[in-house]
Amino acid sequence: MDRISKAVELAAEKRQSKRRKKPVSRSESAQPFEYTKTRRIVVPQEVMRENRLIAGSDQQIIIDAYKLLRTRVLHRMQQNNWRALGITSPGANVGKTLTAVNLAISIAMKHENTVVLVDADLRRPSVHKCLGIEPEKGLLDYLEGDIPIDEMLINPGIDGFVVIPSHNDSHTRSSERLSSTRMERLVRELKARYPDRLVLFDLPPILVGDDVEAFSPYVDAFLLVVEEGKTDVTEYAKTVEILENKDVLGTVLNKSEEIGHGYDYYY
Ligand SMILES: Nc1ncnc2c1ncn2[C@@H]1O[C@H](COP(=O)(O)OP(=O)(O)OP(=O)(O)O)[C@@H](O)[C@H]1O
Ligand SMILES: [Mg+2]
Repeated sequence: MDRISKAVELAAEKRQSKRRKKPVSRSESAQPFEYTKTRRIVVPQEVMRENRLIAGSDQQIIIDAYKLLRTRVLHRMQQNNWRALGITSPGANVGKTLTAVNLAISIAMKHENTVVLVDADLRRPSVHKCLGIEPEKGLLDYLEGDIPIDEMLINPGIDGFVVIPSHNDSHTRSSERLSSTRMERLVRELKARYPDRLVLFDLPPILVGDDVEAFSPYVDAFLLVVEEGKTDVTEYAKTVEILENKDVLGTVLNKSEEIGHGYDYYY
């Protein structure tokens, strides 16, 4: 086992020891989404396959890895009554967005849960690219303009899965926007509107600017993504230190050569 894997396991053990338990509180029946106002843009199977989305994959080992991640994420979220999860990483380009989209799809595939995925990476939004869609409206229009939430919602053709995309890169004032009262209202409304749904946020890397720290009060927990051979131990340790007082649900070790299938989940 390499050093990053050991560091991930050590951090997981540390978190485990301070974890608090709350009772499970979920309603028995998750109703399907109302698509009356949500735009439906069906993502073709070949686009899903090309972009490594599990809904278009026939590689059972990859589907199973995401299902395992899903089950563990759901278990922990339900145990703690968490509903909003932020997905981040120490540095860039390690697979956060792909993990967020595939996690959302795998949650929706379970049929008992529905999920909203918000592209909260205002600097380098890419959920829409991962899905191969071109949104007309996005999170920035909501944060800077006055458009209603419904106008941003897109259903990519998978029942139970709704996306709030972000399509204009914005390197200026991204942390101010993410911590704005409008953003706070969006998170509150998403949670209130979908009482039994999970809200996932695809975030920028934590060590690039203060976006994730500024946004952190709005999520219940974080999921970290690291890439074997790319994320180094110092970066990882710094990330764990920054999130010390936050709940970190676990770490995905992405593109792992060790096990051979590239999608490991350290819990
Ligand atoms: N396990 C994997 N196996 C193969 N390719 C992968 C894997 N995970 C991610 N990728 C690819 O790596 C690239 C970067 O992935 P992604 O955009 O999800 O990273 P990111 O961490 O969100 O990047 P950014 O920091 O720019 O937001 C994409 O082309 C994606 O398809
Ligand atoms: Mg990304």
